[in-house]
Amino acid sequence: MNPQTIIDTFMDFYRERGHLLLPESSLIRPSDDPVLFTSSGMHPLTPYLEGRPHPLGDRLVNVQRCLRTTDLDEVGDPTHLTVFQMLGSWSLGDYDGPQSLRWGYHLLRDGFGVNRDRLYATVFGGDEQVGPDDGSLAVWQELGVPVELTGPENWWSNGPTGPCGPDSEIFVWTGDTPPSGTPTTDDRWMEVWNHVQMRYHRHDDGRLTPLVQPNVDTGMGLERMEMVLRGGRSVFEGEGFRPWVRTVTDLWRPDEQSLRRVCDHLRSSVVVVADGVRPSNTRHGYVLRRLVRRVLTTLWRDDPTRTLSDLPTEPITHTLDWFRLGVDVGELRALLRDEERRFRELLRRGRQVVARQLSGGPLTEDDYRYLHDTHGLPRDLVEGLAAEAR
Ligand code: ALA
Repeated sequence: MNPQTIIDTFMDFYRERGHLLLPESSLIRPSDDPVLFTSSGMHPLTPYLEGRPHPLGDRLVNVQRCLRTTDLDEVGDPTHLTVFQMLGSWSLGDYDGPQSLRWGYHLLRDGFGVNRDRLYATVFGGDEQVGPDDGSLAVWQELGVPVELTGPENWWSNGPTGPCGPDSEIFVWTGDTPPSGTPTTDDRWMEVWNHVQMRYHRHDDGRLTPLVQPNVDTGMGLERMEMVLRGGRSVFEGEGFRPWVRTVTDLWRPDEQSLRRVCDHLRSSVVVVADGVRPSNTRHGYVLRRLVRRVLTTLWRDDPTRTLSDLPTEPITHTLDWFRLGVDVGELRALLRDEERRFRELLRRGRQVVARQLSGGPLTEDDYRYLHDTHGLPRDLVEGLAAEAR
């Protein structure tokens, strides 16, 4: 199955069960949202999970581009990405969590052909505020899917406050050997789909109160599902990354982990720019800047003459098509080149001022503040330059 067939299969399944297509949102959240980027399909639905009636009704489905900066440091392994596509389904106060899991199981088995012996589920085991999720446990037992009870790993929220609830995660075996262990003991069990029972609102003081309606929020990672159906070992071998992997390998021949990081961050940068962000030192622009700078730092570690000017248009165009985005590729490339020039210049100046500062002894908090406020050098960059100078 290619990614488009996966999307169509998912959409058709839920449309046949009365779900209407929710239009995709931008990655950029409105300014009153404490979270900068859309990080899950449910994110734009927050007011509706909290009780506002949705104009499209109470059963929804969509595919949503998402960005998770929380996963930034994990990128480089076979499965983590900063920007990815999430297939989502929602019940806004309509059917319950166990119903969602039953449908999920049938879609995996009959729609995607994933056998039960490759599946494992995890379920919330309870804590001091909320009891164990017996309903989900009973469904998995009835379906004959092995299940593990866990603690906070099976509690989902989009931030420290707001709607949240216990979830049940579905894992698929990705190893070369017959399945062994459980999702918490063997990381060859890869999470592909999360079904959250959004039933609570978390307040600033940590207290939970029930939402006016119990909802279900599910999210399946498209790139991971493609990997499962391909029988692959990494999301970077998938269609969404093929042109990046080919281009970056041909141009720079980085090691495997750097290859993944460079491909992920370049692809994410393209999507973020296409959603209207420009590099800056605050908020969205700073996240974009960090992505591009991490690419450059990785590339220059082995060879400082490497340059983004060598990037052809093909992977960029491919990503824009993949994410259904339209933007001028020439402008996008120019923006990347400009950001590279700016970073080279910052590093050149930074090396000089950091060396000067170091001549007076190890850097103090005042030095960091001075380097930041007067020379625009962020702390992580100064730390890197100081380490280089030692
Ligand atoms: N919102 C849930 C997640 O992102 C489905 O895992």
